[in-house]
Amino acid sequence: MDDLIKRAAQELAEAKHAAALTGAGISVESNIPPFRGKGGLWEKIDPMEYAHIDAFMRDPAKVWNVLIKGMKNIIAQAQPNDAHMGLARLEALGRLKTVITQNIDGLHQAAGSTDVIEFHGNFAWQRCMDCDARIETVKVDMSRVPPLCECGGIYRPECIFFGEIIPPQHLSRSQFVASQCDLMLVIGTSATVQPASYIPVISKESGARVIEINPERTPLTGSVSDYLIMGKAGEITRLIVEALERLL
Ligand code: OAD
Repeated sequence: MDDLIKRAAQELAEAKHAAALTGAGISVESNIPPFRGKGGLWEKIDPMEYAHIDAFMRDPAKVWNVLIKGMKNIIAQAQPNDAHMGLARLEALGRLKTVITQNIDGLHQAAGSTDVIEFHGNFAWQRCMDCDARIETVKVDMSRVPPLCECGGIYRPECIFFGEIIPPQHLSRSQFVASQCDLMLVIGTSATVQPASYIPVISKESGARVIEINPERTPLTGSVSDYLIMGKAGEITRLIVEALERLL
């Protein structure tokens, strides 16, 4: 593993346009559970019953009570970990330009990353489905579920549900970043949800090096990614940044 960490640091030192794609795994060390695998949210609840737009439209109170309320509490308490901080440090060192994240927790921005594409939207804001008024999620009054806007409309998070399209501006910019970068760090994603999982494929096909950080193999491992550094995002990213700083 030490060799791979040194190799990643060296490649980051040489890269001119590095980018990162992150998934739920990067926030596990911030106490936000992932979706799949051990302890994953989809082990406990069926995403088609609680995270699909049709389910929300059918019964918003049920989705607020089972999914959104819980997420609100978990995300409100979460703090960036060494992986979020490490990516922000890479940006400050001029070694990383853009983070594309599938996460909605805002932890990259909290850590200091300034160019973050929130591929699946964000959870920091709720939007009224009738009048489009916005409210910060932390300010939503939960005494009535589903919470209602002053106009009587129902609030929904500004992230996407299954069955909804990726915000076009996020999709096109992510594809552009993926095609222009010369190094793509892929951290903490199972790479099973399209179209996000195609982002590293675009980078690979455009000639970039693709490095994965994950405790498990993924469908990208051994085909799309040049190598996998097996381990937790926080620990591995910290070691890479330390090794890089010794090189600069
Ligand atoms: P998943 O839950 O599918 O995958 C989490 C990944 O993180 C797995 O590959 C784990 O091995 C890895 N992992 C676990 N702990 C880790 C750690 N400490 N450090 C690094 N990696 C770790 O999450 P995503 O790939 O992000 O979409 O899921 C993609 C999308 O599926 C989500 O954005 C969400 C979900 O349904 C929507 O809700 C639209």
